[in-house]
Amino acid sequence: MKKIGIITSGGDCAGLNAVVKGVGLTAASHGMSTYVIPNGYAGIYNLVEFDSLTELSPARLDIVNVSLAGSEAGHSRVKISRIKDPHKYDRIKEGLKKHGIDGLVISGGDDTGSVIVDLAQNGINCIHAPKTMDLDLNSYSVGGDSTINRIGTFVQDLKTTGRTHNRIIVVEVFGRYAGHTAFRGGVGGGADAVLIPEIPVNFDVLYSHMRDVYWMRILGSDVRAGTYSIVVAEGMKNSNGEELYDENSGVDSFGHKKLAGAGRYVVQELTKRMKADPRIIKYMKQSGMYVEGLYEAPEIRTVQPGHLVRAGGSSAYDVNYGMEAGMAAVELLKAGYSGYSVVDVKGTHIRFQKTEELIKQRYVDLDQIRFYENMNMCFGRPITEVTPVFEEVHGQVDRIY
Ligand code: F6P
Repeated sequence: MKKIGIITSGGDCAGLNAVVKGVGLTAASHGMSTYVIPNGYAGIYNLVEFDSLTELSPARLDIVNVSLAGSEAGHSRVKISRIKDPHKYDRIKEGLKKHGIDGLVISGGDDTGSVIVDLAQNGINCIHAPKTMDLDLNSYSVGGDSTINRIGTFVQDLKTTGRTHNRIIVVEVFGRYAGHTAFRGGVGGGADAVLIPEIPVNFDVLYSHMRDVYWMRILGSDVRAGTYSIVVAEGMKNSNGEELYDENSGVDSFGHKKLAGAGRYVVQELTKRMKADPRIIKYMKQSGMYVEGLYEAPEIRTVQPGHLVRAGGSSAYDVNYGMEAGMAAVELLKAGYSGYSVVDVKGTHIRFQKTEELIKQRYVDLDQIRFYENMNMCFGRPITEVTPVFEEVHGQVDRIY
């Protein structure tokens, strides 16, 4: 293993530049060189046509800023198995041979991982460094912590404008069909309700919670001010289990529906219930907000931060995980492994798993949610009492740091 190619693929996020740097620095420490294969799998498919590749020399690596989100290696959503060319794997091998690349470190999520499984089966050496802001892989994935922090900050920030206008704010966030970042970001920002794809939403439950909490705040405030925050995961479903995305959004080149529109649906459902609720006019009058014909009910607004949840900067945790995942991927390649994903690094132990296992979808633990429901956070379903199971732990505990 002399020359390593680095690819980053799928939706970008924070921590990827740390993976790039971890790969480059570790390879250099073993006397190996690293090259950027630009623009994800589009780049590897077209590698044979490139005259040269950029080497991550010590000077070039020095200007890779680990704390910036996005990736110095670029991304595309091209999935190799969807390319029609029947000779695609031969073309990729020819490209690798042309540039003398012996192995690949590929950072991405489940779709990227499924291509790693394909490539490894086709005799191409590759190791996976887990990345996805959706956090839906079996292991931690770079990008998740930064996104959670950003969602938390947006929720918190939107409370200032929400409270000033006495508005109910619905924040729709990325995450596809897993609610991890909506849940943890919502908790981080002190949201009142979080709607996740794992729990089909009962809008009557959500509406009653919203009405009670929102009016408790306004009627209890000395300046009659209050807001209510709802975080909605883009992949949420209604009580019939139907997805709520906008039919006209189209599909990406991995073939996935582009999800958008869940926030608007939530606004419609809550507005409908508010209009039919005779208590609202009473509360509007009681709070001194009521103006006939102009202001008869509070406003419910939706905000879609979109790509902002994965843009900007990386959290320190993602830089740490990214550097270690990049380093571990090089060590695994050097040791002759292929078709595996890095899990994490504990001391000098590099833990890894077969990529096909690691990319199996992981969803929010609905039992854990029940504790939050009992702490008055609404998830669009009735609260059930939790009976905790106590477990005394001996010896070293599994921990983040
Ligand atoms: O998978 C990561 C992700 O951010 C999803 O949460 C989101 O649905 C999607 O990517 C958006 O992708 P794109 O950047 O292609 O619009």
